[in-house]
Amino acid sequence: MCGIVGYIGKEQAAPIILDGLAKLEYRGYDSAGMAIAGEDHQINYKKAVGRLKVLEELTHGGETMPGTAGIGHTRWATHGAPSDVNSHPHFNKEKTIAVVHNGIIENYIYLRDYLMKKGYEFISQTDTEVLAHMLDYYYKGNPLEAITKVMHRVEGSYALGVLFADQPDQLFAVRKDSPLIVGQNEDGCFIASDVPAILKYTRKVYFVENQEVVRLREDHMHFYTIDEEEIHKEPTLIDWDANAAEKCGYEHFMLKEMYEQPKAIKETLMPQNNPRIRGDEITIEELDMTDDELRAIKKLHIVACGSAYHAGVTGKYVIEGLARVSVEVDLASEFRYRNPILEEGSMVIVISQSGETADTLAALRESKARGFKVLGIVNVVGSSIAREADKVMYTWAGPEIAVATTKAYSAQLIALYLLAMKLARVNNTVTKEEYQKLLCDIKLLPDQVELLLNNKNHIQKFANRYIGAKDVFFIGRGIDYAISLEGSLKLKEISYIHSEAYAAGELKHGTISLIEDKTLVAAVSTQEALYQKTISNMVELKARGAFVLAVTNEDNKAIEKEADYVIYIPKTNAYFTNSLAIIPLQLFSYYVSLGKGCDVDKPRNLAKSVTVE
Ligand code: M6R
Repeated sequence: MCGIVGYIGKEQAAPIILDGLAKLEYRGYDSAGMAIAGEDHQINYKKAVGRLKVLEELTHGGETMPGTAGIGHTRWATHGAPSDVNSHPHFNKEKTIAVVHNGIIENYIYLRDYLMKKGYEFISQTDTEVLAHMLDYYYKGNPLEAITKVMHRVEGSYALGVLFADQPDQLFAVRKDSPLIVGQNEDGCFIASDVPAILKYTRKVYFVENQEVVRLREDHMHFYTIDEEEIHKEPTLIDWDANAAEKCGYEHFMLKEMYEQPKAIKETLMPQNNPRIRGDEITIEELDMTDDELRAIKKLHIVACGSAYHAGVTGKYVIEGLARVSVEVDLASEFRYRNPILEEGSMVIVISQSGETADTLAALRESKARGFKVLGIVNVVGSSIAREADKVMYTWAGPEIAVATTKAYSAQLIALYLLAMKLARVNNTVTKEEYQKLLCDIKLLPDQVELLLNNKNHIQKFANRYIGAKDVFFIGRGIDYAISLEGSLKLKEISYIHSEAYAAGELKHGTISLIEDKTLVAAVSTQEALYQKTISNMVELKARGAFVLAVTNEDNKAIEKEADYVIYIPKTNAYFTNSLAIIPLQLFSYYVSLGKGCDVDKPRNLAKSVTVE
């Protein structure tokens, strides 16, 4: 939610900040703003409601805001509607202190009342404005002192960029519970919410930890604790390809990322320098657990949000089916408040693309506080979840920019399959032949996904018929239900068409009353043992007027008798069908969204990483 960028150095700051914000726009895009240290100890600023391009136009790509130090922000509104006045940066009355903020100040009402009694006036509805006034209250010429005093008083989460008009040769970055990195190259220093924002300029980044402050100057950075003690930090070299954060000729990031799925799957199976399949063995070194320790796992709790949760639901079917280890899957936002029962022998797995999702992070902390080990399945290297989890198994999908996840979800499935196979191997719950078959089938997935992607034209034609749809239903049983959950979320989040996923057998317990003449129902049927059952449900639906699209295995030709339209997926292991069946559903959602003229990569009201509860 909200993206922050800052720069201080030899170059003009505004174009660099705008460029960085463009890479972070996925974090929020209802307004944007910038503050640049100008001459004569003034801060120049511009804010604009709407997409970043409004700010770009307003400042002629930054040209009208000269200066070599500044901070910028792209917003996803929490407190106060998107408006010019609520956009960041926020200021003290004299406009000599500028603040950009990502997070939520939980005690802002108390602090605002306190400051109002001291004569401070507030002009916005945001929680952030208290920070600017509080800094003003404590500022006596020493920025570090003022910042740390404010940190001692505020509760909640924050990643901040701060600029003081009378100190134009320095910028400050501050962090608690919201992501923040700083980076450096030979020309200057950078602040960003996420690596892609500065990848074009530097690969040398430092992860700012909770309750740390960074003072950035043109040629160096200093790190401090909340008690103003200086600390030493080592940089991390990021090896992501800079193109990963560019569209590279694709119309949308989502389309590009769908096409990167074969690579994401391959990299997650066989990370460079550390392949997870070695001969006949699955080696997940990051687990750092002996076979005996793996055998001792009695129960797994998978906790995640959104699509990562859906990957977890698939994981439950696959792990329970293959390794016979009991798995409970929870929505992270529910897990921490339901007083979950974690018994001896349980292990918690949190799944997250961004590694910053507030609910998932909270679930991780809750589990650790109860003394349980947490494995993070995470995509963003060095993210909060990656750093706080006891063990991290990275999904090597590379940076994902589109709000609707595709390649990270596919990589999460692979991580879960590998885990399931490893557990099955040590628990001896599959035969040698079954295990060999699994190994063989998992390696085929990248090519099979590619094949499905290359067959996109007929899906586009089909999707164009549904751009006017009011409701769409997705049904399936077992793993197919898990696929339906994800297919439905993809469609609704980017096309704004109401859609629901149902366990196929459950529809008749109420929801079938919503089926009208020509309502589209996508029936996912990839589990041979359940073909007949799903066909029965399709028949029930057709009898009530539904138009049934079936997504099934290439050998299930019998389905043609009952379905109105069939999409076939190549034959794979029953446990891996999700990886294939999701591809046409992603393409379908993409083309419906495109046909409706929606903003595919930045759907309304959403943000890529949800760092608030
Ligand atoms: O970064 P995370 O994987 O923790 O994000 C979880 C969800 O917010 C995310 O999957 C969301 O549902 C996506 N928009 C789905 O496409």
